[in-house]
Order: sequence, then C-alpha cells, then structure tokens
Amino acid sequence: MKSIYLDHAASSPVHPEVAEEMMRVMTSQYGNASSVHSFGREARKQVSRSRDEIAALLGCLPEELVFTSGGTESDNLAIFGTLEALGLRGKHVITSVIEHHAVLHTCEELEKRGCEVTYVPVDNTGRVSVEDVAAAIRDNTVLITIMFGNNEVGTVQPIREIGELARSRGIYFHTDAVQALGVEYINCKEFPVDLWSFSSHKINGPQGVGALVVKRETPLSPRLFGGLQEKKRRAGTENMAGIAGFAKAVQLALQGLDERRAHYTNLRKKLIDELCHESGQDTFVVNGNPQFFMPQILNISFPEISTETMLMNLDMEGIAAASGSACTSGSLEISHVLQAMKLPENVLRSAIRFSFGLGNTTEEMEYTAQKIGTILKRLRK
Ligand SMILES: Cc1ncc(COP(=O)(O)O)c(C=O)c1O
Repeated sequence: MKSIYLDHAASSPVHPEVAEEMMRVMTSQYGNASSVHSFGREARKQVSRSRDEIAALLGCLPEELVFTSGGTESDNLAIFGTLEALGLRGKHVITSVIEHHAVLHTCEELEKRGCEVTYVPVDNTGRVSVEDVAAAIRDNTVLITIMFGNNEVGTVQPIREIGELARSRGIYFHTDAVQALGVEYINCKEFPVDLWSFSSHKINGPQGVGALVVKRETPLSPRLFGGLQEKKRRAGTENMAGIAGFAKAVQLALQGLDERRAHYTNLRKKLIDELCHESGQDTFVVNGNPQFFMPQILNISFPEISTETMLMNLDMEGIAAASGSACTSGSLEISHVLQAMKLPENVLRSAIRFSFGLGNTTEEMEYTAQKIGTILKRLRK
C-alpha cells in the first residue's frame, strides 16, 4: 500500500541537508556555549553562526533573535513577556478567535491574571478585518496579537495593515508566523511587527526548536529564569544542534520559496480538479479565503461524511491528513476556527485539512482523489 503524508502543517520531515548539518554539529561539538574554555568558545561560535545566518535570512538583527523550544514557547514568551514587562493588571490585549491554542490559551491565562482581552471575530473565510481591530482598541490596549496565516484553513491575515494601525496608536504587535515561514514573503524589517513567532519543524527542521524575533525597544520579561543565555530573555543551555538544523532549514525554506509556492499551488489545484473529476464538484466545499491563502494548506469538507470517518478511511488507504490543528486531530472536538467562520453544521463536522510539503507529487494528488472517490462511494452504500 502507498503511504502518502499530507499533514506537513502538523510536522514535516527533516530535510536531508538539515540532518547532515545537525549530525556534523552533534558529532563534532559538545561544549557548553557558556563555558569559557576552548570547547565552550567553539560551541558559542557555532550558535552565533546560526544566529547570524537566521537573522540575515529573516531580516532582523542577531540580537533580536531569541531561540526557543518552538512556536508554542515563542507565542507564550511574546505575549506573557510583553505583558509582564508592562505590568499585567488593567492592561488590554487584542487577539482573534482563530489563533492557535498557543496564543488563545495564553490570552485566557492573562485574563485570569487581571488583563482584559478582546477576541476579534473573523468572516466566513477566516479573515480578520482591520476595522474590527481598530474598533477594539482602548486607551489601555498594549498588545495586538494576530497570526500571519491560519494553520487550519490557511487564510492569510492583513498583517501589514494591522501593524500600521498598531504602530500609529503606539501598541506593540505580535504575529504568529509559524505556518507562514517558507511560503509567505517574510522579512521582519519590512513589516511593522514588533514580535514574530517561528518554529523549525514546520519547515523541514528538527522538532523542539524555534525562535521569537523581538524588535529592539520592545519590552520583554523572561518566562524562564536561570542562566544569562539569549541576553537574559530565555535561560537554559542552547539547543546547539537543533539551532544549527533550524538555520539550515530556514536557508532552504527561503532559497526555494518561489518554486515551493508554485509547486504547492499546483498540488492544491490538482487535488481539487481530481476531486471534481472523481466524485463531482457538489460532493465537497473548500474552506478558507479564495484570495488570501497559504498554498500548502487546503481545508475541504465532504458534507456527507464526518471528519473522523473520512480520516479513518484515508488512514486505512495509507493517506495521512488532519482534522485541524495537531492538538485537536483525532478528537471529536469541532475546530474553533471553523466554528468562528460560522460554517453550516455539516461543513463543520466534515472538514479535513490536507497540508503539502517536501516530497509530495501531483501523482499523489491523483491517488488521494481516487481514494476519496472510492471512500465516498463505499460509504454511500
Ligand atoms: C500557527 C501555529 N502556531 C503555533 C504552533 C505551535 O508550534 P510548535 O509545535 O513548534 O510548538 C503551531 C503548530 O501547529 C501552529 O500551527
């Protein structure tokens, strides 16, 4: 049986060049970057090299980069770190209803600690309106956190416009760009954004490493206390091999961005066309925004069949897809993103997220569409 992986938004295979780079670091270096001896100095040089490379690629200063354990920690550090630095009580934060739980649950925690949070709605394509964000601003608003691109439906948000609004009102702006890195044109210098979250394992890097870019002048309290690493913003011995792998992954992701976008757009179109051919246009609906979307994510509902049944049947055919974010996949919970988009009940309960990545081919799209056609026919009987 063929095995097809269409869940790259949950986690992606490590690129061979990334694995090679990590192996080189793991087998040649073992000093602690904080030690003063030659082994420590070598380790420090290695981490600095990776930091310089990533900073140059992302368009930030090396000292603006804080290495973390991934997107979740970056989101937590951005939101809590800023709010704690400004004093939590009585402060107001604006976010959206379709954020990843790493942002939503952090905001809920802020509320328990005396902050006020406004969750702005989205339209039925999953897009936030700049006017809604503007209307939510109060005198005590200190942070806006809105994701770059949504991990479930792929909708891209008006980040530049929200950033300009935030800047004009003296409000800090954080964006979770975990899914956007490597498919959207991101240069931190060119956007009015103060804090950016990134994660390595979504771009063919290792799991358990990521970064928060913190623009100079942005206040940030640490969440972890201990050593003086990351300029006192994130204590703990650096994940040296992971960071080296992350640097390689960022390099590969940004080098091939145009081709990758074109390839994913092609895969997306192929899967939709083949589904029309195999099962008919009226058997499915595409969820998300037809204009502002990341091409690697395709969210489709097959209203005749529940999400769980379709995922199970696809899995039996060797095809891995998801119901939404990784944390909710496999559970019966309906996605908060699709709910926020106010989709009809049968669309909500039958959504599947296909996400493309390294190694996927148009032949796999044909095969997947054929199998979906067969599954639909079999279940109709
Ligand atoms: C938009 C978004 N933010 C944050 C995260 C969490 O990242 P990590 O798995 O690196 O903690 C994810 C992971 O799915 C995501 O899609």
